[in-house]
Amino acid sequence: MTKYLKYAPGRCFCSDNMKSTQLPSSLLLMLLLLEVSHVSSQERSRPNFVLMMVDDLGIGDLGCYGNTTLRTPNIDQLAQEGVKLTHHIAAASLCTPSRAAFLTGRYPIRSGVAGDGKAGVFIFTAASGGLPSHELTFAKIAKQQGYETALIGKWHLGLNCKSSDDHCHHPSIHGFNYFFGIPLTNLRDCQPGHGTVFQLHKYLPYSTLSIVLATAALLHYIGVITIRRGLILSLLSLLVVVMALIAGFIMVIPYFNCVLMRDHRVVEQPFAPENLTQRMTQEAVDFIERNSERPFLLFFSFLHVHTALFTSAAFRGTSSHGIYGDAVHEVDWIVGQIMQTLDRLRLRENTLVYLTSDQGAHLEEISARGEVHRGWNGIYKAGKSTNWEGGIRVPGILSWPGSIPAGRQVDEPTSNMDLFPTVVQLSGASIPEDREIDGHDLMDLLQGRAERSKHEFLFHYCSTYLNAVRWHPQNSSSVWKAFYFTPNFYPENETVCFHTHICFCTPDSVTYHDPPLLFDLSRDPSETTPQTPATEPAFHSILAVIEEAVERHRRSVKPVEKQLSVGNVIWKPWLQPCRSTFSQLCQ
Ligand SMILES: *[C@@H]1O[C@H](CO)[C@@H](O)[C@H](O)[C@H]1NC(C)=O
Ligand SMILES: *[C@@H]1O[C@H](CO)[C@@H](O)[C@H](O)[C@H]1NC(C)=O
Repeated sequence: MTKYLKYAPGRCFCSDNMKSTQLPSSLLLMLLLLEVSHVSSQERSRPNFVLMMVDDLGIGDLGCYGNTTLRTPNIDQLAQEGVKLTHHIAAASLCTPSRAAFLTGRYPIRSGVAGDGKAGVFIFTAASGGLPSHELTFAKIAKQQGYETALIGKWHLGLNCKSSDDHCHHPSIHGFNYFFGIPLTNLRDCQPGHGTVFQLHKYLPYSTLSIVLATAALLHYIGVITIRRGLILSLLSLLVVVMALIAGFIMVIPYFNCVLMRDHRVVEQPFAPENLTQRMTQEAVDFIERNSERPFLLFFSFLHVHTALFTSAAFRGTSSHGIYGDAVHEVDWIVGQIMQTLDRLRLRENTLVYLTSDQGAHLEEISARGEVHRGWNGIYKAGKSTNWEGGIRVPGILSWPGSIPAGRQVDEPTSNMDLFPTVVQLSGASIPEDREIDGHDLMDLLQGRAERSKHEFLFHYCSTYLNAVRWHPQNSSSVWKAFYFTPNFYPENETVCFHTHICFCTPDSVTYHDPPLLFDLSRDPSETTPQTPATEPAFHSILAVIEEAVERHRRSVKPVEKQLSVGNVIWKPWLQPCRSTFSQLCQ
């Protein structure tokens, strides 16, 4: 073989036809065969990708992560056939920034998709913020490498910039050739009878109003001023008008926000959840079938198990955990359908499958009627919207039979940003060098070639505030985590923020810690007991190392446009996408 190989360069494939025809035909055939086998082995090392992200699923909801009362056999099997990550960290504890980080391999603060003030995610389809088009997603790179790419499900990274159909933030701008799904997110408002996330009445300035009213009444009573009946009447009617406007606004929210699109076209508005699961699953199966002969990348982004929870008739009442548990069962069924399709088309050994959640379970999701609509974060503290482990420690399962050993567990820190370099390199491209990439290629860890994670430090942001730092020192099993501030819970004896539905990071909603609160997750994964200089002799030197890392990190963060600024998250009527039959109403 090597003898023939020596002839190859410049001989057979040179531009001079005369020379190549002089080679013996058997040698030519040999070289051709060599070339073919080279291509096919390269194809084998360039797998397809099926990346699945569940919304708000808790790590404690899955059988393979210890749940004994929910049944997730398909996901458990996926874990058995691949690697289960037990220290898999979402780069943010809210949907929009977590997904930006997943797609770009970068901390959300670098792309400007980190919350600003209280706004942490997009809440209107017609907002002008989104993932900037100059960001590089793994889908964009895979597409350049010849992959067919699709996003099925939730996007939540913006849509328009200047008009109702410029689609400057559309998935197609970020490398997804095909899109079937919702540009925003599933909301309570998207289903009648499930209430609204726009609890505007909670934000009226009640205390100011009552002080003004009481003062006016008092001044009137002691005769300093005279309030005429006409004034009272007009104030009352103003209040009625404001209330009516708010109510009207909430009534039209489903039309504005619950939009289902196929590529650039709005196909349902508001979308009907009835058989949406079946339609999304069918879309995924069709996409895989259409592309079984060529490399493909499918990002299946579940609408489940975000509220408003919905399940198909077949899954209603199947769990002992109400409609939430039923929805988890349905998620598992979808995973099963996708895996069966890969099996049927003999694509398993040729496909890297990943399953995760964008952040921890949303513990404040208890309905007005007291129904539990929230997931379970296992032993981990608190949930979505916080950087306690319950908010960011998510399931991470990777399977690729024949290339990733089965039944392994990796306890080293990994991040959802790691999928970017992993996918990019497996697709045959190299990692971009013109920008900071915070993820690390997972293959060495997955294949057992490396014992240690390359993540010595992970920085945990809440909005644009640096909230906590994780340090896994080289040559040590410790995982230190230092908090600069922690959210103020309500009620105080629970790890939730029921009064605001999510925990905020603005100065009025947190408690600052100086020195930072320090935990060793390797001994205290539930973050119950902070270390002190008495319990941990190295207390100050650990914090000093972390402080240095923060300095280095901060220098690497360049200022960029804030995609979640107030101006970029508010509803802008001229950006509102409309299905043609609704265009009258829309206008
Ligand atoms: C979903 O339901 C609609 C009507 O509600 C029906 O027209 C459509 O065929 C259904 N789609 C699937 C895939 O079942
Ligand atoms: C399983 O998940 C359900 C639903 O989130 C939760 O209520 C339950 O506590 C979990 N069970 C175990 C044993 O973890």
